[in-house]
Formats: sequence, structure tokens, C-alpha cells
Amino acid sequence: MDFNENNATEAVLNSFARIEDKRLKQIMNSIITHLHQVVKEVEPTEEEWMKAIMFLTKTGQKCDDRRQEFILLSDVLGVSMLLDAINNRKSNEETETTVLGPFHAPSVKINNGDNIAKTVSGENCIVSGKITDVNNQPVSGASIEVWQSGPDGLYDVQKGDDIVDLRATLETLDDGSYMFRTVKPQYYPIPVDGPVGDLLQNLDRHPFRPAHIHFMVKSKGYKDLVTHVFIDGDKYLESDTVFAVKKSLIRKLEHGIDDESKEKCLLLNFDIVMEKE
Ligand code: BEZ
Ligand code: FE
Repeated sequence: MDFNENNATEAVLNSFARIEDKRLKQIMNSIITHLHQVVKEVEPTEEEWMKAIMFLTKTGQKCDDRRQEFILLSDVLGVSMLLDAINNRKSNEETETTVLGPFHAPSVKINNGDNIAKTVSGENCIVSGKITDVNNQPVSGASIEVWQSGPDGLYDVQKGDDIVDLRATLETLDDGSYMFRTVKPQYYPIPVDGPVGDLLQNLDRHPFRPAHIHFMVKSKGYKDLVTHVFIDGDKYLESDTVFAVKKSLIRKLEHGIDDESKEKCLLLNFDIVMEKE
């Protein structure tokens, strides 16, 4: 029988009859069912279909060792955060997760109290907190990777190969506490010099993310935690272009004095609750 509008989906699903991997079969069945449904609903012209193909082609061509334009696409379409929600369902106590983002990179080990702002200057800020389990017991020796953009809105990896700045790895002390010095993070735009930037413009959407610091926390016996702390009052908290803000991750900046320099600084407290593996 000829392949036509009425039998198209069935014909392709039938072609999957020999797939042995059940999960692969389920995924392919679902993708084809939904994709055909979209085409039937939207009835794209051939020019429109070619435009879509060219968009995906350019998205692939923009990718290299450092740039992953497909992940960025998944981020701005809310798919990354939907995946995060499905894979990290939490009870009330554990710290919520959010996207990893494209700017995670290896970092150097520091001691508690060190300053991670090596070359950039800005408003001095002390970030501290305590890592516990759901029973309020300290998690000592946990590894905490932190990374953030500078006041110019850029991460070190966007500036060059040999710069390591505003990122570090430290360990919690016996009582689960940690502390590091840095500069106040600022809101910034995601990379817009590729097809995802063009897409945002066509959709009349801004490219900004509210100010945040990334955390990746690991400790034996606990689930790895990838999260951010967001700064209360940021103008993009309600419209993060990658949909990654969760209320439980927003903290107020307080004003204080740095014990060491005796100078005024900002204080950011972020306690973290880890989930057993
Ligand atoms: C980030 O926070 O670094 C980020 C996350 C998703 C997309 C782009 C940037
Ligand atoms: Fe970020």
C-alpha cells in the first residue's frame, strides 16, 4: 500500500518491529508518534522544513570541544530543567538541583577562606554555609566545586585558555561548614553568537540569567548535587532564560565586615542538605 497521510505513522512504527532493545523501541515509537503529530498539525511548507533543517545544521556546526549549542537549545526550550525535575524529584528537606550549564571546567583546590577572585575585582563577598544530611548531621570532607561569572558577566573560560578565575574546589570542615571569598555575581546573557541567540531574538526573548554561583557537591554515600545559589532582588529572577530558578535557592545578600581585612563586604549564606545515595 502507498505511504500516505493516514498510514504514515503506522508504517514507520511497523518498521520498528525488530528492535530488541525495549527502551529504544519505546523512545522511537514515542518520538515518531509525536513528530508525525506535529507535522500533521502544523503542515509545514517545504521551505519551512528546510529552514528547520538548516537551523539544526547550524546548531551542530556551532558545537566544538568547548561549545555545546544543542545543550544551550535544550536549556532555552526548558527541556534541560524538565529533565532535571524528572530525574531529581526531592522531598522537602534536600537542596534542590538546577542546570549544570556550559561553563563548568576543572578548577584548583583552595582552602576554606581563600579568595577565588584572582584577576577580577568587584564588590567583595563572603560565601559560607554548612552541608548537612536530612537528619541535620554535618557532612564533613565533602568536595564543593564553585564557579561564577565576574561583574562583566563573563566566565573565565570565555576569556581564554589559560585563565582560571572565579572557580575553585574546597572541602567542608569537620562541622560541615565551608567558606570562601569572592566578588558579587552579576546577571549575564547566555552566549548569543550562534543559532540559539538568533532563535531567542526571533522569539522576542531576552538572553539573561539572574546572578548566581554554581555549586557541585560530592561526598561518598550521597547523591552528587548540582545547583546554584541565586541573589535575591535580581531583576531576572522571574524570567531566567533557561528556566532554572527555584525559590528555595534564592538568598539575600547581607552587609558585614570581613574579619581578615576589617573592610566592609557582602555576606551570602547558603546551607546545603544532601541526599543519601
Ligand atoms: C550558566 O549558568 O552558566 C548557564 C546555564 C545554562 C545555559 C547557559 C549558561
Ligand atoms: Fe552560570
